[in-house]
Amino acid sequence: MYLYGWNKLDRRTHLWFGWVYFIAAFASMVIINGIITFMLTSGKWIENHEFWVGFFNPTYFPSLFVRFAFSLALAGIYALVTASLQKNADLKGKIVKWSARWIVPAFIVLPFFVYWYVGNMAPQVWASAKGLMPTATRYANLIVIFSIATFVLSLLTLVKPRKMHFVFSLVVLTCAFTTMWAFEFIRESVRKPYIIDNYMYGNSLYKTPMNGDGGFNLEQINQNGVLNTAKWVQHREITTQNQIVAGKEIFRVQCQSCHTVDAYRGVKNYLQQRNWDASTMALMLGSLDAMHNGTMPPFVGTEPEKAALAAYLATIHPVTKAPEVTMSGKMTFQSNCAMCHRADPSDAVFSNLKQMDQETIVAMLADLPTLNPRMPNLALTDSARAELAKWLHE
Ligand code: HEC
Ligand code: HEC
Repeated sequence: MYLYGWNKLDRRTHLWFGWVYFIAAFASMVIINGIITFMLTSGKWIENHEFWVGFFNPTYFPSLFVRFAFSLALAGIYALVTASLQKNADLKGKIVKWSARWIVPAFIVLPFFVYWYVGNMAPQVWASAKGLMPTATRYANLIVIFSIATFVLSLLTLVKPRKMHFVFSLVVLTCAFTTMWAFEFIRESVRKPYIIDNYMYGNSLYKTPMNGDGGFNLEQINQNGVLNTAKWVQHREITTQNQIVAGKEIFRVQCQSCHTVDAYRGVKNYLQQRNWDASTMALMLGSLDAMHNGTMPPFVGTEPEKAALAAYLATIHPVTKAPEVTMSGKMTFQSNCAMCHRADPSDAVFSNLKQMDQETIVAMLADLPTLNPRMPNLALTDSARAELAKWLHE
């Protein structure tokens, strides 16, 4: 109606349609913002399960302001694209300047709203975007680059507003959308391992038992097994014949909401990087929730189920251990430590190790779980530890 009424409706009615459209769009943001911020920061809802407490959760208002400010900038950018197609140079110059009045102020207030937003997340969650989780960190870098680019390019339109080119306006639009895309991606990434903060994991597993959860919570699955709990599985019992297909089903139930085998976030890529054999795999599965700043839920199920999943994963990238070949220290770190510790001075564990002498390191790393119970019992050989200690000192 807004578009087709352009030349047909009188000015007042036409503007009225514009306002109806604005109010409807804003109301949709008000609602959806309540849902996605609740998923990120469930806040006190966890204790009292009250609807409005969940809706107006800790990031509700900061996120609403961030989104509103960004929408104002986008409105200006759309006008910029429209302006770039104008033949009349005076009109074009006028609209370009007018657009900047939406974009520039929005970009000036945005950092403050973003700061407010991030301040209302748990610091541990935000740490994922600051280096602890590779994906979120990559997108955080993108957001910095593209938001600055959007702002600077928008300002540049004011240098020769009457001559602003269509392609230039498209570049600004693309930068703005890349910023928004990176922002949404980070929000979804740092929320992991949860789909609803502190309540439900990304694979639909409940953190604590709930009425009507069908036994799909940590405690009960660890007791009863995942194959006995999940509805749509074929193999309830693991035997030597069906171990690998049963493992594949466990992968589908527990891992496939976040991983494919060899495409999006494909486990094959990870396993190629790490080179774990089936027994190392089983150990690592016990510590999934300690990797990359806790971005994954813990493995749940019985010991035979863990072994079945490990056996299946080992078929995706088969590794045969050659004990006579000693891995270099760097490779030992890459394959045994790097998913939980970063080889980076900002990583406390890494820099502490660097300060110890080599014999201490070799002795200390003989038994990882005693150092910290969240670590897998990797039982590295003497030579592997010696190489690792040597590399740490290089
Ligand atoms: C809630 C989502 C989620 C679930 C469920 C999940 N993962 Fe992950 N996993 C991730 C993310 C995200 C990463 C990569 C982090 C990054 O690179 O930013 C990852 C990384 C990994 C890695 C690579 C670690 C490394 O760096 O070497 C392995 C192996 C892995 N997952 C296995 C599994 C298995 C097996 C399951 C099922 C038991 C599982 N994951 C369930 C999200 C998930
Ligand atoms: C599955 C994750 C995981 C793996 C794999 C892992 N660690 Fe850890 N490690 C942890 C966690 C969690 C801690 C507790 C401290 C922290 O949160 O950083 C820890 C702590 C440590 C500490 C400090 C112990 C203390 O409290 O004084 C050292 C040293 C260490 N790890 C070395 C290693 C080395 C070397 C490797 C590889 C051979 C390794 N870790 C593999 C998760 C892991």
